[in-house]
Amino acid sequence: MVGDVIPPASAPTAIPADIHNLADYERHAEALLPADAWRHIQGGADREVTLTANRTAFDKVRLLPRVLTDLRGGNTALDLFGRQLSSPILLAPLAYQKIAHASGEGETVRAAMALDTPMIVSTLSSLTLEDIATIGQQTAAGFGIAPASLWFQLYLQEEREWSAELVRRAEVAGYEAIVLTVDTSIKRSTFVLPEGVDAANLRGMPRRTHTTTPGGNILFGTPLLNVAPRWEDLAWLRSLTKLPLLVKGILAAEDARLAIEHGADGIIVSNHGGRSLDGAPSPLDVMSSIVKAVAGRVPILLDSGIRSGSDVAKALASGATAVLMGRPQFHGLAVAGMAGVAHILHILRAELEFTMAQLGCATLADITADRLFVSGR
Ligand code: FNR
Repeated sequence: MVGDVIPPASAPTAIPADIHNLADYERHAEALLPADAWRHIQGGADREVTLTANRTAFDKVRLLPRVLTDLRGGNTALDLFGRQLSSPILLAPLAYQKIAHASGEGETVRAAMALDTPMIVSTLSSLTLEDIATIGQQTAAGFGIAPASLWFQLYLQEEREWSAELVRRAEVAGYEAIVLTVDTSIKRSTFVLPEGVDAANLRGMPRRTHTTTPGGNILFGTPLLNVAPRWEDLAWLRSLTKLPLLVKGILAAEDARLAIEHGADGIIVSNHGGRSLDGAPSPLDVMSSIVKAVAGRVPILLDSGIRSGSDVAKALASGATAVLMGRPQFHGLAVAGMAGVAHILHILRAELEFTMAQLGCATLADITADRLFVSGR
């Protein structure tokens, strides 16, 4: 089922010469994007306490360099769910990428392939999951490279049958893992999508929205809560697919334990980039309790606030196997489409390698907790 409008690869856009890091991309993207789109992309929930905490959590961690180690034969490779990856940095699921570029996810998937990076496609993508896979296959054939490693991010739909249909479609289209996002099934939103941008995967499926009125029921007592996902839905999803199943949006150690108990093959520690519960802790701050609860049974991935290679190293030293990068994808798309996202991935990888060399780590497995500097230890 391939849609009729697969956007062609955009003409290459020159990357401004003064871009050296992800902060530079952010600055350029702000100047290029319409103000309401920028606020939608950058914003966090309510007073943005958690959004701010995501950055300060990384900034307050210190790394302890080690010198004169033998770095010959070093690499950033890892094995994740049986697939060999060249880097521990993945593309987080982001809804409606056409907000930042006319070809949306079509650009992102090409960048993901160029940098051999798994892309997690959102339920709310602005191209269908099939079209994104087709663009990946066509590009792979054209350049003689391996097709994209695509994972599908699922928001459970009101009826199980609709969720099952999305999973089946992802399986047929060759997606390699399912990521169930559990932290924003109930979310406040006021952003109006621009003309021509919609949830391409959900066309024809009813979607429930709810507007509160003074004196009326707010959430409790409304149908919205009756259809909100529960743990039994995770067990059901587990029985539905043989693909690796990850749960995204875990912050409590007990929830990590429950997710594994209900069949999760991986945990994504995330506060949705500070867009869900304001006042929630940053993923980095909960890592030690999650690591203890998971006890090595499944890989732990982390997102929310990753903006540099040293952030990646801090996440790995805290027990993460890999990380996801969110908003910078929008920044890359706005600045230079595919080339921008690919460049951002390259920058992060380069910064990670420099950080590893300075930490005396030849492999990701060497990035252990003893590289985190704890005052007085
Ligand atoms: C998101 N995120 C998200 N997550 C998800 O599971 N499905 C989705 O459709 C979206 N959509 C989305 C849109 C926008 C505009 C943003 C900013 C975020 C959350 C995303 O996957 C990830 O958890 C955060 O973006 C990570 O934080 P950073 O890297 O943006 O700080």
